[in-house]
Amino acid sequence: MLNSEKTLQWEECRRTDQMTIGILSGGGDAPGINAVIRAIMRKGIQKYGYQIVGIKDGWAGLLEARYMALDLNATQGLLSRGGSILGTSRTNPFKSDTGPEKIMKNVNEARIEAVIAIGGDDTLSVAEKMGKHGLKTVGVPKTIDNDLAGTDVTFGFNTAVSIATDALDRLHTTAESHHRVIILEVMGRYTGWIALEAGIAGGADVVLIPEKPFDINEVCELIKRRQERGRNFSIIVVAEGAKPKGGVEIVYSESLDEFGHIKLGGIGYYLGKEIEKYLPIETRVVVLGHVQRGGTPTAYDRVLATRYGIGAIDAVHQGKFGQMVAMRGNKIGTVPLKEVVGKRKTVDLDLYDIASVFFG
Ligand code: F6P
Repeated sequence: MLNSEKTLQWEECRRTDQMTIGILSGGGDAPGINAVIRAIMRKGIQKYGYQIVGIKDGWAGLLEARYMALDLNATQGLLSRGGSILGTSRTNPFKSDTGPEKIMKNVNEARIEAVIAIGGDDTLSVAEKMGKHGLKTVGVPKTIDNDLAGTDVTFGFNTAVSIATDALDRLHTTAESHHRVIILEVMGRYTGWIALEAGIAGGADVVLIPEKPFDINEVCELIKRRQERGRNFSIIVVAEGAKPKGGVEIVYSESLDEFGHIKLGGIGYYLGKEIEKYLPIETRVVVLGHVQRGGTPTAYDRVLATRYGIGAIDAVHQGKFGQMVAMRGNKIGTVPLKEVVGKRKTVDLDLYDIASVFFG
């Protein structure tokens, strides 16, 4: 069984002279990372005869030469396990002038032929840029936010939506008993995918997303319309990046991470106070937070993660570097990383129109 706590130096990981492929996970974790790792290992070791090495804590592990032995025994129990056995970080090697050089030195010393980077836009943008420094990379699209361009869906998203939907089902019964408005704030950064799909699945009465800045008067009107129909409770889903018309996002902290992102959070409380200013109805707020990212992946995400893992190791085998595996219309293929990074896949507004049929 793998000792996930122990950080190894390269020579302790190397067992043979087989071609060596490194795997890393970067950015926020997402349910299904371990299922991707498992698939890469099973096909990479059994079918292609590669040696697989885990790189600890995202790009930080390559900067600091911190590795983890990954053999077939290590695949045990990974399919359903949440988090990342490799650890993850938001380390950006391009923050320092010597970062890319250090990575290439470590990769060459460890004789790692290619790196599979499991991540969202930040992690994959590093993979793309490192390609220009000579690193062979393949990307795997991971984020609960589902905001990556070039793919129909990222793994982790379905699990986050399921968790948010379950929360909405539970909030419905308590909101109804107490005749309250309950606001559920969900993640998603600058897109409203989680809010929108959970809102549809969980029967939300209002869904607020970054792509459609809201007007507080319209939100109150929808609540009133329900009251007029005898529905003396309402459920609102708000994405953390949602903002009022002409306003800005509410931030939890102004401090920036290494990729320049602020921490969003707090729109739910802002909204709750606004509603209580205009309407005589008790309003409560639930911030779902990291519950959306933790724990076991859904069956859908296990299958998707497995397909992405197989797609990634196949891409390595075929020498398709500088590519990301992607799902397009239920087929797994590859797309150049340079066509993906720095773009954002915002919600399909047709889907928002469907959700809005049920507002108020
Ligand atoms: O990108 C995934 C995500 O969960 C976002 O939805 C959220 O804004 C952010 O990460 C939170 O990051 P952290 O885990 O650093 O709090």
